[in-house]
Amino acid sequence: MSRIAIIPGDGIGPEMCAVATRVLAELEGAALVTETFPWGSAHYLRTGRMMPADALETLAGFDAILFGAVGSREVPDHVTLWGLRLAIVQGFDLAVSLRPARLLPGIRGPLADRGPDDVNLVVVRENTEGEYSGIGGFTRRGLPGEVAVQTTVYSRDAIARTARFAFELARSRPARRLASVTKSNASLHASVLWDEVVADVAVGYPDVQWESVLVDAAAARLVLAPQEFDVIVASNLHGDILSDLTGALAGSLGMAPSANLSLDGSRPSMYEPVHGSAFDLVDRGLANPIGMVLSAAMMLEDLGRPESAGRVRDAVAAACAAGIVTRDVGGSATTEEVFEAIVRGV
Ligand code: NAI
Ligand code: MG
Repeated sequence: MSRIAIIPGDGIGPEMCAVATRVLAELEGAALVTETFPWGSAHYLRTGRMMPADALETLAGFDAILFGAVGSREVPDHVTLWGLRLAIVQGFDLAVSLRPARLLPGIRGPLADRGPDDVNLVVVRENTEGEYSGIGGFTRRGLPGEVAVQTTVYSRDAIARTARFAFELARSRPARRLASVTKSNASLHASVLWDEVVADVAVGYPDVQWESVLVDAAAARLVLAPQEFDVIVASNLHGDILSDLTGALAGSLGMAPSANLSLDGSRPSMYEPVHGSAFDLVDRGLANPIGMVLSAAMMLEDLGRPESAGRVRDAVAAACAAGIVTRDVGGSATTEEVFEAIVRGV
């Protein structure tokens, strides 16, 4: 039996989580015990906190966390993100965010003349530091000369564990290729350390063909020649930006799953779609649930249920191949119709 904490959050998060929870119930029945936590912006407006002060202690008792999205029009984004999602990621030291992007047969991608063979890659995003260290401050706040400083933190340890994870992943994939993305022409301390550590780690992986790519060039190349990429390893900010791009290459941000991983397994890993709370889609029954459902499949895999994970992926692929998809990927199905197609397939 596995215990799953579900945090639906804001916007379309609850609709997406409801779909994933129902797919999990269909597949696993009583083998998965779920508990839902109503944390997020509504909780903040009621209590002044996005989640209770002892939330991490509560979550630590679970085997995994399934997360929807945070972000609302009533609460500033930095409050919602830091108060919930980043509090969990940082508090549990969820070291890497794994973000696969595959253009599935049946989905029309945004690039002309590109098919499923061209977009099959994974972004490995360092998940705990960089621009997301939370270090910095304001001075002369509110005055005309006000200044903000945001400190970028890169540590050898965090880069090395991210790089090792990425090289291991590349080694396990047929193409065995890795691109390390940096900005070491401009970022002459942080990115330079990144490059040095990745080069050190690479010595242990002579069977992986790797290259270092500047982030701006990587953005262009992802559009022009996505087939050249297999595993991409990047800092927190670069990985965040590029994984929205790779999600779009897979047809829509709504297709993109992710896993925030506790590398030593001492804390529950957290699984969530890459997209946010999508204000424009809330309560319309039109959002694409596939990113969320594929995130649940990643969770099943890590919980030692690869057979169930495979059934979810196959059911998603079958729904796409049959054209039962939402508007963001060129279909006309509702969220519920996609759910029904997936459940029929599992
Ligand atoms: P967003 O990801 O919510 O939406 C961007 C675009 O993608 C929108 O056009 C939206 O309609 C579309 N989209 C997103 N999910 C979709 C789905 N499942 N199906 C079909 N289309 C989908 O990003 P945006 O608009 O920048 O941010 C909205 C709010 O979400 C903000 O408050 C932001 O801070 C928050 N956010 C939260 C994240 C998280 O919880 N992990 C990640 C990104 C943003
Ligand atoms: Mg993002």
